[in-house]
Amino acid sequence: MVAGIDDMAVYIPRLYVAASDLAKARGIDPAKLEKGLGISKMAIVDTNQDPACLAANACLKIMQKNKLSPEDIGRLYVSTESAFDESKAMNSYVIGMLEQIYGSGSFEHCGGIETKFACVSGSYALYDNTNWIRAGEAEGKYAIVVVSDIAKYDLGSSGEATQGAGAISMLLNDSPRLLAFDPKVTSTSIKDDYDFYRPFGKETPIVHGQYSNLLYFIQIRKAFEAWKKKVISSGLIEVGEDETVLDHIDYLNMHLPYSTMGKKALAYLLRHEWRCLPRWQTLIDKIGLTEPYPKDPRGTIESLLNDREFMEKDHEFTKRFTQTEEFQELYESKLASSLIASKAIGNLYTASLYLGFRSCLEFEFQNGVDLAGKRIGFGSYGSGASAMVFSGVIQPEYKAVVKDMNIETEIGTREKLSFENYEMIHENKLSLDQALLTPKKEFVLVRIETKPETRGERRYIFNE
Ligand code: CAA
Repeated sequence: MVAGIDDMAVYIPRLYVAASDLAKARGIDPAKLEKGLGISKMAIVDTNQDPACLAANACLKIMQKNKLSPEDIGRLYVSTESAFDESKAMNSYVIGMLEQIYGSGSFEHCGGIETKFACVSGSYALYDNTNWIRAGEAEGKYAIVVVSDIAKYDLGSSGEATQGAGAISMLLNDSPRLLAFDPKVTSTSIKDDYDFYRPFGKETPIVHGQYSNLLYFIQIRKAFEAWKKKVISSGLIEVGEDETVLDHIDYLNMHLPYSTMGKKALAYLLRHEWRCLPRWQTLIDKIGLTEPYPKDPRGTIESLLNDREFMEKDHEFTKRFTQTEEFQELYESKLASSLIASKAIGNLYTASLYLGFRSCLEFEFQNGVDLAGKRIGFGSYGSGASAMVFSGVIQPEYKAVVKDMNIETEIGTREKLSFENYEMIHENKLSLDQALLTPKKEFVLVRIETKPETRGERRYIFNE
């Protein structure tokens, strides 16, 4: 049975901090953020927003846009790594908010959970709900998967330039207008590691930045190898002589903690894919260097990072590789459009990959590309660590959905934060009722109970 994404809606907080202001305040060259990390603006939540109300706003949007009633929804999953409760699932808060609009108990028949595995959990939720539909259990109902996060790092840390916030809701069914997932090829990798994690009670993560970059590449590649085997053995993709499966993927959408990570991941995958093909020698000639190897090729990520000579040579090799015409052509045609939104919004953790997908659809369509039948490969990564690689095909009816996509209109008028206000919000120095913006047709958090018997209960209202 066909199953996939029928529609998607984006909710991004309207406050943002400009990368140039952050660079100035931290004494960093602005070019490092703009060009090196590919970040110009980072969305920041107002004082009265939490990941649950971001998720509820994205859900309400998709329901209203598609004129759905609660009866049409069979499952509502929220995937996040910004949880604020150790037990109560975030989708229950979302149901509570939606029932303010649709009536108390209107979602009672619906099921769902909150899923967690850093940035990859939304992909697991999509996969599980797709299989719920494929198994014939949906009985004509939709599943909604909402990915919602606030990416927040310590002030002054290297991660501070890779923050962001937002939610994306995805409507799944058995006759998707946007994308049908390729069946039986979804592949995963998993490992117990500590590249990025957030112990109980800590608001910001503990991050080993360069380590996390390498672990991302390695885990994605492991899942990619498994996906490759499946697409070839199942006959989904026929790979000719001197070809790689990537030649048969029209667009690549990668997890984007910052937009240039997409480019780095593409370079990593291509180096491994092209190395055994005749085209590699032509590239080596153009690059003018032999491909470097680490002192200990079977070593750990730490041993690689400590092998300074290798890291420097490898960095130079990658730089020259990404400057070749062959790489540039592929980058521009298969990846670049997915990076545009990330530059203006920042890291959305679980939602980053799907913001990239959304960006790819919108900007390719604007460029006049006919997307029907195009195959998209997805590389999802969650620290800690797991990766998921999967693919899907754009459906013939996609235009009906994509023609109205406009990320700028969907966000609404944005307001740049003064650096002082940014730091006050970051350090939780403003109370819920000191919001900087007036909410417009959206849910906001109005109170967190403090009495012992109700401690932590959250109250939300919808502002007309
Ligand atoms: N002009 C132009 N470019 C410059 C520059 C300048 N003046 N100075 C530096 N750059 C470039 C660098 O060359 C580099 O690009 P290349 O690697 O392509 O050469 C880029 O800017 C970044 O520089 P650094 O690597 O030196 O940056 P950093 O070490 O200070 O920080 C980071 C980068 C490690 C990603 C940090 O932002 C961080 O810790 N972020 C949070 C963790 C993260 O995002 N990890 C990603 C993988 S894990 C994951 O994906 C899950 C998740 O969502 C968190």
